[in-house]
Amino acid sequence: CSTPLVDGFNRRISYLRLSVTDRCDLRCTYCMPEMMTFLPKKDVLSLEELHKLGLAFIDRGITKIRLTGGEPLVRRDVIQLIQALGRKLGDGLEELTLTTNGTRLAEFADDIAAAGVKRINVSLDTMDSVLFEQLSRRDRLVKVLQGIAAAREAGLKVKINTVALKGINEEEIPFLVEWAHANGHDMTLIEVMPLGEVDGERVDHYLPLPVIRDRLEAMWTLEDVKDDTGGPARYVRIRETGGGRLGFITPLTNNFCATCNRIRVTATGELFACLGGAEKVDLRAALRSDSPDEQLALALDEAMRIKPEKHHFRIEAGSGPAQPRHMSMTGG
Ligand code: GTP
Ligand code: 5AD
Ligand code: SF4
Repeated sequence: CSTPLVDGFNRRISYLRLSVTDRCDLRCTYCMPEMMTFLPKKDVLSLEELHKLGLAFIDRGITKIRLTGGEPLVRRDVIQLIQALGRKLGDGLEELTLTTNGTRLAEFADDIAAAGVKRINVSLDTMDSVLFEQLSRRDRLVKVLQGIAAAREAGLKVKINTVALKGINEEEIPFLVEWAHANGHDMTLIEVMPLGEVDGERVDHYLPLPVIRDRLEAMWTLEDVKDDTGGPARYVRIRETGGGRLGFITPLTNNFCATCNRIRVTATGELFACLGGAEKVDLRAALRSDSPDEQLALALDEAMRIKPEKHHFRIEAGSGPAQPRHMSMTGG
């Protein structure tokens, strides 16, 4: 491969989060407002362009690509991109995966697995259908559970992502952990991040994960285990739930940026060097220039120069979002 991607803090960048759309069929209250404005469709990269980007990143030493959204499976023909990138598995690419809300997974699970994907992450914040509808503003719990079951049947390993929310799913967390582990899923809990305006105040429902960890530790035996996914979670294994893994993603209480190996690209081809920062380079302009290969190489070098040391998230009353950009635009 060409020169590997190493940033100004000597971090090797090997993990690309590639958003294929900022659109979503849910409206999770901590993620976006009910009346969400999406990117103009005309600005979105074609599947061929996304594929080309993926190849350029693999050439620069990216070994893990995660397709994200919004909801990646609402993009028409996304499976073709998964298939095309899947052909690079074993040829530079070590892992191809996606993060999905699961509502359309039942439809796509077999094709996703056939393309070479081994494991996927599915968001699930509650198993209570009334709460699910309140939280996502859509009545889709049954679809999500069917999607998870279909993924398992297709042979995909499923990790459950749960955003921990004070006074909302707080009490349900131990039950969700038990359910996930009983069904063979790893799980990660996530602290809510101040990205983009939402209709309420995120601070009202912010739940620091050390609190949850202490509560779980009073119930169960938590043994630290080494992470092998290359993501930001710190994992424990829980003996009493059958040995399943539980990860904690703690951008607020325990900044994990020192070991960051990631960059993210939006569906319009903006590379954001950090989830919480404004530093970006325009890959679409590079792709559409007269010399795309050279321009992309220069843009990636620039991304390595501008990647900040860490994010500066705070969740306090009146502090507002750290970034006007919603998580659904950069795909987390
Ligand atoms: P694995 O490959 O299973 O480790 O997944 P992952 O945790 O890398 O990906 P996933 O899409 O499941 O993300 C889980 C949560 O981690 C989401 O809320 C992401 O926004 C968050 N996350 C991932 N990378 C970063 C990061 O660099 N910074 C911050 N603050 N959050 C991140
Ligand atoms: N803070 C934390 N997690 C969020 N997600 C979406 N918006 C936010 C936010 N503001 C979660 C989703 C999904 C993952 C990709 O990010 O629930 O599991
Ligand atoms: Fe959609 Fe995911 Fe945001 Fe929920 S959290 S609205 S599923 S992008």
